[in-house]
Amino acid sequence: MSDISDEIKIQINTAAAIVKERSSLIGRPMTYHVTTFGCQMNARDSEKLSGILEECGLERCEDELEADVVIYNTCTVRDNANQKFFGHLGSLGAVKKTRPDMIVGVCGCLSQEKSAREKILTSYPFVDLVFGTHNVFDFARLFVMVLTREVTKGKGSTVTEVWDDTDKIVEDIPVRRNYSFKSGVNIMFGCNNFCSYCIVPYVRGRERSRTSDDIIGEIRRLANDGVKEVMLLGQNVNSYGKGLDENISFAQLLQKVEQVDGIERIRFMTSHPKDLSDELIDVMAGSKKICKHIHLPLQSGSTRLLQSMNRHYTKEQYIDLALRIRERIDGIAITTDIITGYPGETDADIDDTIDVIEKVAFDGAFTFIYSKRTGTPAASMPDQVPEDVVKKNFDRVLAKVQEISTKQAAKIEGRIMDVLVEDINRQDPSLVTGRLSNNLNVHFPGDESLIGKIVDVKLTQCKGFYYIGERIQ
Ligand code: SAH
Ligand code: SF4
Ligand code: F3S
Repeated sequence: MSDISDEIKIQINTAAAIVKERSSLIGRPMTYHVTTFGCQMNARDSEKLSGILEECGLERCEDELEADVVIYNTCTVRDNANQKFFGHLGSLGAVKKTRPDMIVGVCGCLSQEKSAREKILTSYPFVDLVFGTHNVFDFARLFVMVLTREVTKGKGSTVTEVWDDTDKIVEDIPVRRNYSFKSGVNIMFGCNNFCSYCIVPYVRGRERSRTSDDIIGEIRRLANDGVKEVMLLGQNVNSYGKGLDENISFAQLLQKVEQVDGIERIRFMTSHPKDLSDELIDVMAGSKKICKHIHLPLQSGSTRLLQSMNRHYTKEQYIDLALRIRERIDGIAITTDIITGYPGETDADIDDTIDVIEKVAFDGAFTFIYSKRTGTPAASMPDQVPEDVVKKNFDRVLAKVQEISTKQAAKIEGRIMDVLVEDINRQDPSLVTGRLSNNLNVHFPGDESLIGKIVDVKLTQCKGFYYIGERIQ
């Protein structure tokens, strides 16, 4: 625990003493389960929450309905994320009736929203703890408050601490990584872009970068611990460095990460097209470690809608950028996010989106139906598109994405490429699943001993979005 701040250590020790006592009362170690909704940022926060709980002496439990402590780390980027969470919370409420000692916590982006928080406190009073995205680091103290509070049931007893924003960056927290060989690394927090449809800036606060020394220090420690692949995380990594005392760009940070011995693969998420520099393209082109993949959210191919979305690029600028990337970086995969059903979207706008998909030839795309987020500018725009029209357009976009990305994937059939093995295949345990530098999955015969290794695999059969392969010794 040498990297953990003294204050957090004190809280962890206090919690650990209580956990020990309770464990001996129930005759087994107390268990926990952290359920994560949403993006890589939340996944990383969940690793921190798990790390703190393990330092407090709890054991991980695979089944969320069986655990003594359940934490929901929520997402609110689209309404279906909210629905999913409230579905889970409802089921847990039924379980908690039979096991009143269970501790239920809710954190993450949804708890930053006042209306959602009020809904939790009034309709789900069995929830013991609500906290937000800015005070994850303080979880040990909040956990102690829950463990020691006098009133344990009913309305008004929920420990609630949510901060509106913060300029703090606290990273000296224990972490329980989901994978031994790869890890996310936060390089910045928050977002200042205020895309008109998006709630993230409201729930994640203002953009702030970590110093390069802190980031490199963390990556060195990860490498010493056996990590081979790091994923640098931020809502817009291309604006990394703004507001820091040191003068550093994202491309320069990548060059520093490249120097860390033991790290063999570097990924990052997400790149906003408006800030992607030629310097970054050059660094990627010259790097041996940066993976041949860039996620470059398009959102829409219509310049008119892009302007309304506050994205700061045109259709032509996006195409030009993507083609420059393809030209300069051999074998690069470009993936994207596309929203259909944004207010005012017409058939002509969809034609533009389809045109960009064809011209850029995306290797993959997440396609989303626009979801109205209360408080964002787009929510109060006129011309919200009727559901049946959105559905028709969404299907059109999805079909085009699938057609193009399948063709793209097939281009490397027969090649031998390096694969980082991540897991045993879920459907067929005689296979392992790994990832190519370009982010495609490959399944091939192998066993557990390969997990975490980088091996050469021949891509024998393209299955559209993934490959079947065989290992070349
Ligand atoms: N910071 C990243 C995106 C984070 S959110 C970026 O700008 O690239 C991930 C994706 O969710 C976005 O790219 C967008 O496509 C989608 N999204 C965000 N808000 C949405 C909304 N209100 N409705 C539908 N999709 C949305
Ligand atoms: Fe949302 Fe835009 Fe920020 Fe991405 S850049 S998180 S889409 S506001
Ligand atoms: Fe969701 Fe929050 Fe990420 S809203 S997409 S979990 S930043």
